[in-house]
Amino acid sequence: MVCLGNICRSPLAEGILRSKVDPKKVVVDSAGTAAYHVGEAPDLRSIMTARKHGLNISKLLGRQFRVEDFDDFDKIYVMDHSNYNNVIALARNEEDKAKVDLILNELSSGSNQDVPDPYYGGDEGFEQVYRLLDTATDTISQKIKDGRI
Ligand code: 4NP
Repeated sequence: MVCLGNICRSPLAEGILRSKVDPKKVVVDSAGTAAYHVGEAPDLRSIMTARKHGLNISKLLGRQFRVEDFDDFDKIYVMDHSNYNNVIALARNEEDKAKVDLILNELSSGSNQDVPDPYYGGDEGFEQVYRLLDTATDTISQKIKDGRI
């Protein structure tokens, strides 16, 4: 799960998907394309939104996306077009590029919608992000169970 800062959207996506898959079979992680918040906990608004839905993401620590992530993960979900362009710019080949998709394409294939960046807005933006990610990760976890990812 990749966003810009790895403190708002992608830690939420990580926590939500992790709660829906078998931890013995699936490794879920998140990263930011920027290094601004490396080593930091998620934004308090993401922590509180997750907590409201029964998830604890307060122990997650920000890290920057690195080229090796293409080797370590089968699928790389980005939150918006800017993240997409930044991750694709690091891809070494077509195989790397094929792993990358906008997460909301799991809600509506080919729609190419962004998860809005809630950083500069109010708490309601975080709840909207939660709802989008909750629905998208329903599809992702089902695909994992079916062996389609
Ligand atoms: P995120 O949100 O990419 O969802 O983690 C942001 C977090 C920090 C900044 C921008 C977006 N920032 O500019 O520091």
